[in-house]
Amino acid sequence: MATKLIIDTDPGIDDAMAIFYAIANPEIDILGLTTVFGNVTTPQATRNALFLLEVANANVPVSSGLHQPRSLPSFPPSSNVHGDEGFGPLQLIEPKGEPITENAPEFLVRTAKEHSGEIILCAIGPLTNVAAAIDIDPDFCQNLKGIVVMGGSLAVGGNITAAAEANIYHDPHAAEHVFKYGCNITLVGLDVTDQVICPRQYFKELAVESPHIGGILNEMTDFYINFYESIGKINGCSLHDPSALVACVNREFFKSTPHKLRVVLSGDRIGETISDKNCARANVDVCIDVNVSGVKDNFFSNVAKLN
Ligand code: BDR
Ligand code: CA
Repeated sequence: MATKLIIDTDPGIDDAMAIFYAIANPEIDILGLTTVFGNVTTPQATRNALFLLEVANANVPVSSGLHQPRSLPSFPPSSNVHGDEGFGPLQLIEPKGEPITENAPEFLVRTAKEHSGEIILCAIGPLTNVAAAIDIDPDFCQNLKGIVVMGGSLAVGGNITAAAEANIYHDPHAAEHVFKYGCNITLVGLDVTDQVICPRQYFKELAVESPHIGGILNEMTDFYINFYESIGKINGCSLHDPSALVACVNREFFKSTPHKLRVVLSGDRIGETISDKNCARANVDVCIDVNVSGVKDNFFSNVAKLN
């Protein structure tokens, strides 16, 4: 039976890859997309999520999330990485669909209750909505099968600052709230996602197999890889968010170790994720190694099926 997923997302180029992958993979049943700021603003994220579903002919509810971090002031979107609208140079067609009326934390809480113990929440943006869901329902985490978070890093430093990964940096207080709360979390952070690098040729080949959806990804990733090159990474772009989605259904590609994780909440290293055995909290399973070709082949073979 397919794994039931909710994807909390800030689309975003690698979010688009991840959502197309989830749509394509028959082992995944997407119950909803919830949106959050990060790569773009929350209204843009909601529009972009609806757009992705419509171009891929997928009928999935979209619930709009919170608009700003739990404690910090709002950040400007990461338009240097993802473009002004989130998808690089892509011409966005205004989606016909609308988000549901229920907001993201309410949707998360209700859906987790209705499918108690069955859903994996794959969080590929800042953890703002997830932290708010815990505020609404203290049993929220227990109602989930688990949470797979794309975020953080243990041994390889950050990508938005020297110390912090972007999703944790954009709402460190939310991440700390979620880690402290004792959810069943798998962390798919930069330790593994920065190993899964794809050159332009990979997306060109994807566009040959899947001219429409692969073609859209090829156009977006050209922009994304330009950004990587501008910071001296010349081998292609990382599959950050798609790696988290793959981990939801093919955990065997990832090796993890348990860590009590806390988040730095102030100073130069704000947003850093630290393993601290003196923290009174449950362990997070931190992915520390990955079968790179396993993830890349799995992503490619699934997305290649989309027309
Ligand atoms: C994460 O930050 C965002 O820019 C990406 O979409 C991904 O979720 C990578 O650090
Ligand atoms: Ca993302």
